[in-house]
Amino acid sequence: MTLLHETRNRLRERLRKPTERALSVAFRYAKRVPFVKRRLEAEYASMLEEIRAAAKPYRDRVPSHPRLPELGHDREQLLAEIDALQAQEADRWRDGFVSGAVYHGDREHIEFLNQVYARCSQANPLHADLWPSVVKYEAEIVAMTAHMLGGAYVSEHDDVCGTVSSGGTESIMLAMKTYRDQARQQRGIKSPQMVVPSSAHAAFDKASRYFGIEMIKVPVGADCRADVGATRQAITRNTVVVVGSAPSFPHGVVDPIEELAELARARGIGFHTDACLGGFVLPWATELGYPVPRFDFRVPGVTSISADTHKYGYAAKGTSVVLYRNKGLRRFQWYTTTDWPGGLYMSPTFAGSRPGALSAACWAAMLSIGAQGYREATRRILETAATIRAGIENVPGLRVLGDPLWVIAFASDELDIYRVMDFMSHRRWNLNGLHRPACVHLCVTLRHTQPGVAERFLADLREAVQHVRTQPAGKGGMAPIYGLAGSLPVRGAISDVLERYLDVLYEV
Ligand SMILES: Cc1ncc(COP(=O)(O)O)c(C=O)c1O
Repeated sequence: MTLLHETRNRLRERLRKPTERALSVAFRYAKRVPFVKRRLEAEYASMLEEIRAAAKPYRDRVPSHPRLPELGHDREQLLAEIDALQAQEADRWRDGFVSGAVYHGDREHIEFLNQVYARCSQANPLHADLWPSVVKYEAEIVAMTAHMLGGAYVSEHDDVCGTVSSGGTESIMLAMKTYRDQARQQRGIKSPQMVVPSSAHAAFDKASRYFGIEMIKVPVGADCRADVGATRQAITRNTVVVVGSAPSFPHGVVDPIEELAELARARGIGFHTDACLGGFVLPWATELGYPVPRFDFRVPGVTSISADTHKYGYAAKGTSVVLYRNKGLRRFQWYTTTDWPGGLYMSPTFAGSRPGALSAACWAAMLSIGAQGYREATRRILETAATIRAGIENVPGLRVLGDPLWVIAFASDELDIYRVMDFMSHRRWNLNGLHRPACVHLCVTLRHTQPGVAERFLADLREAVQHVRTQPAGKGGMAPIYGLAGSLPVRGAISDVLERYLDVLYEV
């Protein structure tokens, strides 16, 4: 992007905020007018019809169960029901048509994890006395992850530690709550703020809303990386944490963690590296000689890290790790109560009871794969991603955003990129649609390293671009929805539609 481009984008970003606020207030008031409300609801209902058809494909094809049956169903019959639905869904991710989502997916690996799950399905680490085995698994998951992420390189005052959580979002939310509570107790901060690049995962915004921490969003630079100068300016006396991603979900680029963390360290503020995506890739990429900027506890200012075992740690869905530089900081994550009639109670994370079987399966995944397995998996993923990236760069009309390693976002200055995505979806591809700027990404996993997958992706992509270039837009698909979301006046309405979409998901 040229300097002119960049300056214009920043100016737009500055102007957008007050305009957005005014429009969203106007929209909220307009919605109270009965006539407007009725018109809007009618519009939403028609949009939702198409969405409902996509979200509920089984509605008229298989029996639904809205009430408990008087007599329990036959187990074999239920297994057959599940198998029938599973059979319709598994091919797409198994054959490598999906961005992210299933990161390993080899049959033997899945069967091994299932065996572990089956042996531990009743275990609950809340009852540490009943299942000390799960307590052992979790402590070792944390220790192995901490060691992989530079835990051995901290000063003698620190002792990297952490907990297992249910996923990246929970790890991030736990860390943000931890910083809020630390700042309240140690610095008396009552109106906490977090300084976060605009490319950081939505989980930070969720934490901001749940925990009353004001989110100060800093725009990213032309290379899609967090802007160090803008971050410096955004830090105030109320800042409780500064955030960077390694890499970011949208564009797969690693933020300048060393510089960002130093800003925080120099001011006595915490710094969180979100390595949910990269925690189990970047250490091996570094060993393999890829140019990876430092992002973990080797950077003195980094005080916490989230790293997802259920992504490139190749565990089953439902585990992640949040790490802290020392136990003093982790203590702000703990919950204890001493006056509950239910007894003395404590829990390390948001949940009470937790699925010990998932922790057992995570532990078993890590030990069965080992450093050599992770290194080899990373090598395959990065080589495949390089082929895909080069292929995209060779398609006239497309450009890759930033300098990614394996999460490859691409945009177009000539074509509607969401129409390209829609065409790809008709070829079974499930890509991630992103906006601000409009682009699409493919998050490369082990599924894409199967023979022929990268070539098939590039062939379909070339055809998609050719199609969009030569054919007029049809009706339906995601292109019009993203188009709408990008236009300011209807953003409040899009938010309403998303809420109604969540309602639809729970319709039987
Ligand atoms: C960088 C990053 N952070 C956080 C998350 C959230 O993880 P989860 O979906 O497991 O909650 C993701 C998910 O893709 C991510 O890519």
